[in-house]
Amino acid sequence: MEDKKPSTADILAKIRAQKAAAAAAPPAEAAAEALAPVVTPAPQVTASAPEVVATPAVKPAAPAAKPGSTKDIMAAIRAGGAKPATTTPAATASPAPATIAPVVVAAAVPTSAASVAGPKLSPQEMLQKMRDAKAASAAGGAPAQAAIAPASAVKAAVPVAAPPMPVKPVPAAKAARPSAEKRGLAGLTTVATISVTCFVLGFLTGSNLFIGAGVLAWALLMSPFAAAWASIAGITGIWTLGTARFMFPNVLVEPPSKFKIGPMSDYPINTVSNKWKDQFGVWVVHTDQYEGRNMIFALTSVCTHLGCTPNWLDGEQKFKCPCHGSGFYITGVNFEGPAPRPLERAGLRVAEDGMLEVNKSVKFQEEMGQWIDSTSFVEVA
Ligand code: FES
Repeated sequence: MEDKKPSTADILAKIRAQKAAAAAAPPAEAAAEALAPVVTPAPQVTASAPEVVATPAVKPAAPAAKPGSTKDIMAAIRAGGAKPATTTPAATASPAPATIAPVVVAAAVPTSAASVAGPKLSPQEMLQKMRDAKAASAAGGAPAQAAIAPASAVKAAVPVAAPPMPVKPVPAAKAARPSAEKRGLAGLTTVATISVTCFVLGFLTGSNLFIGAGVLAWALLMSPFAAAWASIAGITGIWTLGTARFMFPNVLVEPPSKFKIGPMSDYPINTVSNKWKDQFGVWVVHTDQYEGRNMIFALTSVCTHLGCTPNWLDGEQKFKCPCHGSGFYITGVNFEGPAPRPLERAGLRVAEDGMLEVNKSVKFQEEMGQWIDSTSFVEVA
């Protein structure tokens, strides 16, 4: 029999006829193949129990009624204290911790809980339920870790409050150091007392040290920064004052060489006046014992031995040097002690106004024969 090669139109017609026959009376195998994907177990069941997948006889027979699924475990937890780990067939076929722990974790995850029917539990309620299940499992002899979710799963379900920010510590030195304003009246009084005291002492004694100490004490109580600047200013001021003082050296002011000592009547005969000794260094003598002449003259109060200042002893009527004991008569002539010659006279005259005037710029020595000079004495009539 010779086969004729079918055309494209014949092939299409045959395919349409087969589809029409299949639509009119579907065979039992086709119906079974069409329904097979519908009765396939849920994906979460196989993921939640690896041991169940390893048992093919149980999985296709009744996947919805599997007692170890997430749905059954959650229903048991809501029912209050059931022990799902001990009632599942998978749990009897394999160790409990390996079978139940993944299931409970899946129940704690919100995505798995959303696929389970029933009221939605808060994380706290879920945690409490897990604790109850753990207690029930412990009472029934099951291992504790069978009903306890891993710590990471519980942490994911329970919201954790953020810890408070630590308080920034305040530096002790800054906190302990009060400002100048906070010291109050006592601090201001102390500052004023120290400063005024030092300033007064400085002005009274003329010492710049007290003034500088007062400024430094005031600045120290104000702030260390002010103290540093006050120290610099004080040192600069002292240096400036020292320089200025150097420009005005000490000057020895001597008394004038000519001075008036009053009228002749102020000096009685045979007396020695000490009135001008301290100020001008002369005695005024009125005597008639030198060459029998009544005269007034001025003796310089300098010992001719080594320059000490003798004293007039009125009771002994002599000048006595305290250094080496030289003695001089009222006329000034030496008579005892180491003094080699008589005391010296200063110039004396009667001024235009009738007053006696002493001139210390000239000296008259007896051993030199100068006492006979008329300018070395005033003769009293
Ligand atoms: Fe006057 Fe020596 S100084 S006795």
